[in-house]
Parts: sequence; C-alpha cells; structure tokens
Amino acid sequence: MLEQIIILDFGSQYTQVIARRVRECNVYSQILRYDTPATEIARLKPSGIILSGGPSSVYTKGAPLPDKNIFNLGVPILGICFGVQLLAQFLGGKVEKGLKREYGKGTLRVTDSYCPLFANLPETLQVWNSHGDKLTKLPRDFKSVAVTENSEFAAIENRERKFFGLQFHPEVAHTPRGKEIIVNFVQNICGCGKSWTMRNYIEQAVDEIRAQVGSERVILGLSGGVDSSVAAALLHKAIGDQLTCIFVNNGLLRAREAEVVQEVFGKHFKLKLQYEDASKLFLKGLKGITDPERKRKIIGKTFIEVFQAATKRAGKAKFLAQGTLYPDVIESVPIAGNPAALIKSHHNVGGLPKKMKFELVEPLKCLFKDEVRELGLELGLPREIVLRQPFPGPGLAVRILGEVSPSRCEILRNADAIVVEEMKSSGLYYKIWQSFAVLLPVRSVGVMGDERTYDYTIAIRAVESQDGMTADWVKLPYDLLEKLASRIINEVKGVNRCVFDITSKPPGTIEWE
Ligand code: XMP
Repeated sequence: MLEQIIILDFGSQYTQVIARRVRECNVYSQILRYDTPATEIARLKPSGIILSGGPSSVYTKGAPLPDKNIFNLGVPILGICFGVQLLAQFLGGKVEKGLKREYGKGTLRVTDSYCPLFANLPETLQVWNSHGDKLTKLPRDFKSVAVTENSEFAAIENRERKFFGLQFHPEVAHTPRGKEIIVNFVQNICGCGKSWTMRNYIEQAVDEIRAQVGSERVILGLSGGVDSSVAAALLHKAIGDQLTCIFVNNGLLRAREAEVVQEVFGKHFKLKLQYEDASKLFLKGLKGITDPERKRKIIGKTFIEVFQAATKRAGKAKFLAQGTLYPDVIESVPIAGNPAALIKSHHNVGGLPKKMKFELVEPLKCLFKDEVRELGLELGLPREIVLRQPFPGPGLAVRILGEVSPSRCEILRNADAIVVEEMKSSGLYYKIWQSFAVLLPVRSVGVMGDERTYDYTIAIRAVESQDGMTADWVKLPYDLLEKLASRIINEVKGVNRCVFDITSKPPGTIEWE
C-alpha cells in the first residue's frame, strides 16, 4: 500500500494547503472528515496523522471532535492550531479562551533544539498565528519545546509517543520555513520515503484505469483545457484506442484553439479524436441574445445536445471519463460559522443529463491542480496546454458583452491573441491567473490617419488569484500596456480604443459577461 499521511479536517481554510505541502514532500496525503472512525483510519495504514486547524473552540458544544481511539493507533500525530488544542484536551491538558486573539506574524523561539520537528532549523523562526484559544496546561508526559511572545506552549511534544503540536500554522507561506517543519514530521518522524511522484503515479493510474475499464470503451469530452487534456493523455496511455475523445468547436474558442487540439491529440498523440464543428449551431442560437444568463443557458443546452449526438456517432461506450480533481471531491466540513464551507464553485454546471447512462472514470480525482500540470508534462503534453490559463466553458461569449455575433467573435479573437502573445513574451503569462481581452459593444469616435473612426472598445483584464474565488488586478508595466493598446488598435480592425480594468474581485468578477 502507498505510504500516506492522513489529515483529519476540522474545517480549517488551510486543510487543503496542508495536504499539498505534504505531497510536495513526495508523500501521499488524504483528507478525511474529522470524525472518521479510528478503525477505518487504521485500515489505511497511515504513516502519520495531522489534525488540521479549525474555527471552533474545543470546549464549546457541538465542536468537531475526532474518534478518541486515534490516539491509540501507535501512529505519529501532529496537531496544528485547533489540532493541538484537541490533542491537549483529549490527553488531559487544558485549553482556555485567550484574552486576546493571536493573529498574524509572530516570532517563535525553539527552546529544545533536540525536538525532531525543528531539526536543521534555526533557534528563532518567523511564524503565522491565527487562534483565539490558548493552551494553559500541558497533558501529562508532554513538554513545551518552543515559545512565542504570547505563548509558552507554542510547540509541544511527547517524543516517546511521537505526538507533536503547533499553535501556529506551518503550512502557510507566512511561516517561511514551515515546509521544513512538515518535511521533518513526515520524513524524520513518520519515516516516510519519497514515493509520491507523478512519474510513479502514472504507473499506478494506468493499472487502476485498466482494472476499472477492462475491454470496454470510454468517451471523454476534450475541451483543450488542462484537466481534460491531461485526463485524455493518461487514459490514452492506459487504454489506447478504447478511448474516443470528442472535441466540440462551439465557435467561441480562442485563436488557433481547435487547430492546436487537433495537432496535439490527433497528429502527435494519435488518439481517436472526434472533431465536432458545431460553431454555426451555437452562434445561430445566440443570435439576438443579450442577457448573460440566457447566453449561458443556450450554450449549456446546445453543448449537451451536440455532445449527446456525438457520443451516439462515436459508438457504444460503457464509460464516460471526466477530469474531476481532488478539491471537487473533498467533502467540506459543515461547521457553523465556517466560511470555507460556504465557498463552492458556482461554475460547475450540472453536467450531462442522467439519461446518458455512463459509468464514470475519473483518473485525476485524487490530484491537486499543480499535480495535474506536472502529470501532463510527464505524459509529454506541451507546456502551451499544460500551463495555460483557465478559460471558461462558454468561451468568448462571456467576454463579449451584449450580443455574440461571428464578427464580434472575430474581433475579440484577434485582440485576445495579441494579449496572449504579449503576455507570453513579457514572461508574465505563466505567472498570473488570467489575462485576456473583453469586447465592449460601445462605439466611440477616434481618428486614424485622416479618417474619423467609430469603433468598439477592448478592455484588457489581468488578474492574480489562487482559485478564482477572489482576485487582484495585476499592475502590468506601463510599457506593456502601451504595446498592447497600440497593437490592438493598429492590428485589429473594428477597435479604436483600449482600456485597462482595475477592478478586484470582490466586488467585481473576473469575467465581465
Ligand atoms: P468569475 O467571472 O465568476 O470567474 O469571477 C471565476 C473564474 O471562473 C472562470 N469561469 C468559468 N469557468 N465555466 C468555467 O469552466 C464557466 O462558465 C465559467 N465562468 C467563469 C473564470 O474564467 C475565472 O477563472
């Protein structure tokens, strides 16, 4: 069985970050609900358990509590923030409401340099705190190994039982050397090797796909985005021609998108690619429609019709493959007052109708996005596909305000191609979340040469974001903005003005619609 660390989730907004940090140490990690029975955890034979933070207080009614038998599994445990309070509470220590909430940067002083959690780290460290309650009495056989200005129990241990607790958050970037603390836990204390790599994962995933699919056929809707592209390459490696990929051109794609997909998957990977050019149908449905919600509905409905018809043409298949990722399948912990539980992606449209009777194959469902990208590169996909910025399903339609017409699509496609090209040559394209052009259907007067013009406006949008839920506009250098504007106005017919969007999310959204 794959070596792994189990992370029990008590509702922290950082639980997934902990899981990612552990995997960055090349150790597989899984997030489980806080109340997962100890017997079930034991069956997974974890090398260690991490108790996440969380917004609750250990002493309030209804606080999420773990199965107490997890402390008898003989497995190393690391409690973080709320997790250390649980550890203390369950093993006979005391937690009290702190006089003031400790939030933000702090300085940790390691008082026992032999504590294996701090091996190879300096005596003082910058750490990030976020907690209200405070440990006031240690459980028996525990001792303090580090202190901060406000806490004499900032890090505690029972070295013999391999139980450790940290009042601060080692998983966040504001604890600059936190990653080394996590490495010390998973490698030195739990004894894990470095078995989790995407190269190893390919083998495991190929075996699993073959075991699930047998000799049946699989259909995959290939959008050209990162997830479906990597899923396609992985499935193709596992089952070759048993896989058919359906690529729908909805007429709302970016410049050269359909060509790139056909070149990469058809010519290079030589997988069975069914190209469906439905652009006329989509654009016909969108004619005269200006309301953004109606545009989305029409696109969604048309896609289902086109895809359904395409699957019939593809021949009988038992399975439908999807590029579902790990964050989509982690069950969120329903803890009152936990904002993390309320954040849900609102864009994951309901999927295909139930009457399409397929079984699902989801070969990426235990991976985080950065792992999917790494896997894509391992599988030989080009950087252009693997590292590309997110692109919405309804495509250019959400970037053309008002009516979507073939000529407006053409204008936006040309302007967008310039934004992508210049962002790439400035080196910023792969560093930020998204950068693109938006077409505003407002005409204004301009002069070009001796002529007056009356043309559209292009808005340039560039945002920084972790997950698309919140975003900051990127302060693009003036000379880059100047180049973008001058190229777009000179090269794209129908545009005579450029503006730069300086709205953050919230209150704005990333797309304009
Ligand atoms: P908003 O505009 O809501 O976008 O701030 C947040 C992120 O979601 C992307 N987006 C979509 N992705 N289907 C998708 O797959 C959609 O319908 C859709 N609408 C927006 C958007 O590009 C941004 O990254």
